[in-house]
Amino acid sequence: MRIIEATDYQDMSKIAADYIIEKVNQFPKIKLGLATGGTPMGIYSNLIADHQKNGTSYRGVMTFNLDEYVGLSGDNPNSYRYYMNHNLFNHIDIQMNNTFVPRGTIDDVLKECESYEELLTKHKGIDLQILGIGANGHIGFNEPGTSFQSQTHVVELAPSTRQANARFFNRLEEVPTQAITMGIATIMKSREILLLVSGEQKKDALKTLLTGNIDERFPASVLKNHPYVTIIADKAAIAGLKVHS
Ligand code: PGA
Repeated sequence: MRIIEATDYQDMSKIAADYIIEKVNQFPKIKLGLATGGTPMGIYSNLIADHQKNGTSYRGVMTFNLDEYVGLSGDNPNSYRYYMNHNLFNHIDIQMNNTFVPRGTIDDVLKECESYEELLTKHKGIDLQILGIGANGHIGFNEPGTSFQSQTHVVELAPSTRQANARFFNRLEEVPTQAITMGIATIMKSREILLLVSGEQKKDALKTLLTGNIDERFPASVLKNHPYVTIIADKAAIAGLKVHS
C-alpha cells in the first residue's frame, strides 16, 4: 500500500480529485466505485468545480456505489442515492442510467444483492474504487467479523456505525438498522483502490491498518492483500505514525 500524506482535509480531497480527473481524462469509459459519508464530500465538490471550469466529461463513465440503507428510497435525503445525485451526479454530465446504487426499498433485498453482484460482473468490474474507513475498520458497510469472501449482502449495522452516522439524521432512532453493501470480496475485485482517511477520529483505525495483522476483525486489513491500493491521509489521521510515502 502506497501512502500519500496530505496536509488537511482540503488537501486530501484535492489530491484524490486530481487523481480521479486524470483517470477520467485518460479513460473516458472508466468504471468508478463510489463512496458516501463525510470523507468523499470534498472530492465530489472538487470534481464538480473541475467539470464546470475545465469541462472534464463523465458522459462515458459508469459508477457503482458501495452501499445503501435498507428502507430508504432515493428521494429520502438520507439515502445514498440522494446523496450521490445531490453531491455529484446532478452537477456533472454523467448519464443517470450509468450510475448504480443498490436499491434499499426493493421488496426482495437478497435478490437485489445478487442482482448488484451480477451487474458488476456483467460490466467487468470496477477500475477505481474510492473508499473511506470506519473508526472500527469497516469498509463499505462491512462491519468487523465480515468474511473476506463476502459478496454484496445485507448487513446489520454496528451500534457504533449507527451512532457515527446519526449526525446526518434528526435522531439516532431514525438511522436504519440494516444496509446493503458490496462485500469484501466484491471490493477486492476492483482493479485499483483509493482509501481516504481524514481526521483525528480515524487515527486509531489508520494505525491498526498500517501496523496490525490481516484479520477479519478489522475489515480494512484485507486491503494489504490487494496489489494496487493508495491511501491518502491527512496529518490529523497520520499524527504520530511512522509512514514512508
Ligand atoms: P465517513 O465514513 O466518511 O462519514 O467518516 C467513512 C466510513 O464509515 O466508511
